[in-house]
Amino acid sequence: MAKSIKKLFSYAIAALMTCLLAVACIPTNNSTTTTPNSPTTSGNQTPIPIGIAVAQTSNVALLGQEQVTGTKIAEAYFNKKGGINGTPIRLIFQDTAGDEQGAINAFNTLISQDKVVGIVGPTLSQQAFSADPIAERAGVPVIAPSNTAKGIPQIGKYISRVSAPVAVVAPNAIDAALKINPQIKKVAVFFAQNDAFSKSETGTFQETVKQKGLELATVQTFQTTDTDFQSQVTNAINIKPDLIIISGLSADGGNLVKQLRELGYKDLIIGGNGLNTSNLLPVCKALCDGIIIAQAYSPEMKNEINTTFRQLYTEQNKKEPPQFTAQAFTGVQVFVEALSTLDKTIKISTLALPQLRTQLNDTLLTGKYTTPLGEISFTPEGEIVQKQFFVAQIKMEPDGNSGKFTFIQ
Ligand code: ALA
Repeated sequence: MAKSIKKLFSYAIAALMTCLLAVACIPTNNSTTTTPNSPTTSGNQTPIPIGIAVAQTSNVALLGQEQVTGTKIAEAYFNKKGGINGTPIRLIFQDTAGDEQGAINAFNTLISQDKVVGIVGPTLSQQAFSADPIAERAGVPVIAPSNTAKGIPQIGKYISRVSAPVAVVAPNAIDAALKINPQIKKVAVFFAQNDAFSKSETGTFQETVKQKGLELATVQTFQTTDTDFQSQVTNAINIKPDLIIISGLSADGGNLVKQLRELGYKDLIIGGNGLNTSNLLPVCKALCDGIIIAQAYSPEMKNEINTTFRQLYTEQNKKEPPQFTAQAFTGVQVFVEALSTLDKTIKISTLALPQLRTQLNDTLLTGKYTTPLGEISFTPEGEIVQKQFFVAQIKMEPDGNSGKFTFIQ
């Protein structure tokens, strides 16, 4: 008995010493840019800081706003459940805006000033290719919530993603289009050539078109900053395609759909992952009707956590949760569950921040998670292993002011 008390006492002293030598085990946050409407979670414990680096401003906020919502639902949900074995988490937000420099600045601040244990972000693959190497060099785990371009987990060993890549998601949309219209033969493809994800996604779309024996009749390019697509639209319409596939982001993609319809294109349109938000609807209004978009999430996913997530989201937003929100929730969930697992093996409050970040990364890569996306895990490289994908089609009300994603597959 006396021996075990002595042993316990010596463990406690060792843990305390590790902490003191490391200066601060769980850092105190001094950031000025923090959680929008963050709930206070502290009590008398220092919350564990998790960084959220997504686009809260710029055109990319059409996607980023949905991610903020998902992470905030996750923060409240997991803290209510007791956080990390009793210690709350605290999300620290740094706005990346829509470009590479914004993402780099957000990552640097989260890593050096806010001293987060890990980062969920950034929104765009284009940003990830610039910002993720910073986290990799600093040994900070990054979970990409929406980067779907080829090559994201390969940036480094600290980079993983919960957003299934274009290669596994995008082809589902072509299958769905062929089910609706088995007569499709001629395909026109559009992509934003200044965006890494759009270039990657169009590669998958173009390969799939050829594999299915369809004719890739024209490839038209644009920029995500473009608003006028008349010459590309005219080129495409002239060859009379039965299907048009767009890889771009929401504002440009929405305007492109609008101009395709205004200039007389009547057949099916597939939008890629950058158009996968109801924030697209105010851009193309009634003309959004019928766009087919592959999904890595369905609100109908049957498990307890999705039922709760869906309920929390619909109570707040009066509509079904979108994919970007579900993926962002999942990013926070993976950190929370991996931290809880790690903490049961070795008290995370005894670890210096660099050790904690590394052990968190190792732990999260080997875990299995039941999430709103279904059962997921990771390859050793950090690629998501996900079982189910879906396809939705946009249905607009005739007034063009409201619409929704209807699941067709
Ligand atoms: N899926 C898009 C990207 O990877 C948002 O950039």
